[in-house]
Amino acid sequence: MIERRARRCASLSTMTDVALYDDLAAEWWRPRGAFAMLHWLAAARARLIPPAARPGAVLVDLGCGGGVLAPHLAGKGYLHVGVDLSRSGPALAKRHGVHAVRGDVLAVPLRPGCADVVVAGEILEHVPDLAKAVEQACGLLRPGGLLVLDTLADTALSRFLAITVAERLPGVPRGVHEADLLVNRAALVRECARRGVTVRLRGIRPSMLDLAGWALGRRPAVRMVPVPTTAVLFQGTGMKET
Ligand SMILES: C[S@@+](CC[C@H](N)C(=O)[O-])C[C@H]1O[C@@H](n2cnc3c(N)ncnc32)[C@H](O)[C@@H]1O
Repeated sequence: MIERRARRCASLSTMTDVALYDDLAAEWWRPRGAFAMLHWLAAARARLIPPAARPGAVLVDLGCGGGVLAPHLAGKGYLHVGVDLSRSGPALAKRHGVHAVRGDVLAVPLRPGCADVVVAGEILEHVPDLAKAVEQACGLLRPGGLLVLDTLADTALSRFLAITVAERLPGVPRGVHEADLLVNRAALVRECARRGVTVRLRGIRPSMLDLAGWALGRRPAVRMVPVPTTAVLFQGTGMKET
């Protein structure tokens, strides 16, 4: 009974989350809009993705949103396939060259083993079932394929910075992050390992100098730089065992 109620709450929370992205659809590609940081994160994520090793290589972008990763993959030689549960995300992503479909990252409508690269950028902290999302992501990878992710850790510092502070800043939408869904790093690493992917994590944050320049309108974007802790925002990479 309790479990059923918990699952119902989780699925309601997913629908609220996705509806929020539909409400904010105009922000995806607005320069200096509410999703500006997602563009900076996409640039940092793309730096972890090598050029395709074979013609026809497939990159699956889980929770692709409006497709902001697309320009950063230009010239890398992948067929960029996106999956997103919102109505607006896949439609917008298609306009940017992504082969996007509407679907749930907890039940991805693609063939297992179809991907040379699976990207899970800022999506794991939005799903009610981390193990299932990891199972789906790792299941899509062919042997030797690469998993690239970035997300928020489930720490008090992360909750404070990403929710309490960030959601009070001007222009930052409220309610995009739920404290309960932030990601347990040990569980993430363990679930990836269970699915044949040894993941290495590294912490990142925006460059403070760039952020100041961006806030003053002097810089078009902000670089993400490495930090010694994974306690807030972190990236992960790992290869599926062959
Ligand atoms: C923070 S955005 C990240 C978008 C993109 N990956 C990026 O980094 O720009 C989260 C995205 O996940 C999508 N989303 C949330 N829950 C989802 C689910 N269960 N399945 C698929 N997409 C989901 C939302 O619609 C939204 O587009």
